[in-house]
Amino acid sequence: MADRPRRLVLVGFMGSGKSAVAPALAAMLGWEHLDMDVEIERHTGLVVAEIFRQRGEAAFRAEEGQLALRLAAREELVVAAGGGAFAQPDTREALRRGAVTVWLRCDLETVMSRIARDGSRPLAGSRETIAALFAARESSYRLADWTFDAARLPPEALAREIADAVFPGWEGARRTSEP
Ligand code: S3P
Repeated sequence: MADRPRRLVLVGFMGSGKSAVAPALAAMLGWEHLDMDVEIERHTGLVVAEIFRQRGEAAFRAEEGQLALRLAAREELVVAAGGGAFAQPDTREALRRGAVTVWLRCDLETVMSRIARDGSRPLAGSRETIAALFAARESSYRLADWTFDAARLPPEALAREIADAVFPGWEGARRTSEP
């Protein structure tokens, strides 16, 4: 157990369930969790859509990259990465440092049905735009250490499956280390 990773990063397309699985998984492991979009909003004082509108996508990607570097120093943390973070080579490199990375793979129809077209996700435009982004991102997500089919299970069950596979014996390990 000594060399088991101390950080777990969930990656995958918008709507794949990263933000819902992260807190469930963190609760199981007794770790903290962090959502990159939420943290960037806290850090900049702007919601993601406003960052894109006022400063452009490149500025948002720069925020993501800097946050990924800061996270590389954190331990006992489950990170819900933004959907585009793992597609940026430098950000991906920083997210992978000392962490185990997990792709929540989801089919296109499921993500389409889950992505709200309420303007909160600036890249969730037309069906064609989303489908093109979905196809372009796959080769990056494949670079994650683990892949789980995310559409067939609710967040709690998926979190349990991930914990069982990535940290076998995690329940026993937690119980024996608790006072
Ligand atoms: C993005 C996904 C979003 C958010 C931003 C850009 C992307 O995160 O970071 O809107 O490029 O796919 P979620 O995957 O949490 O929706």
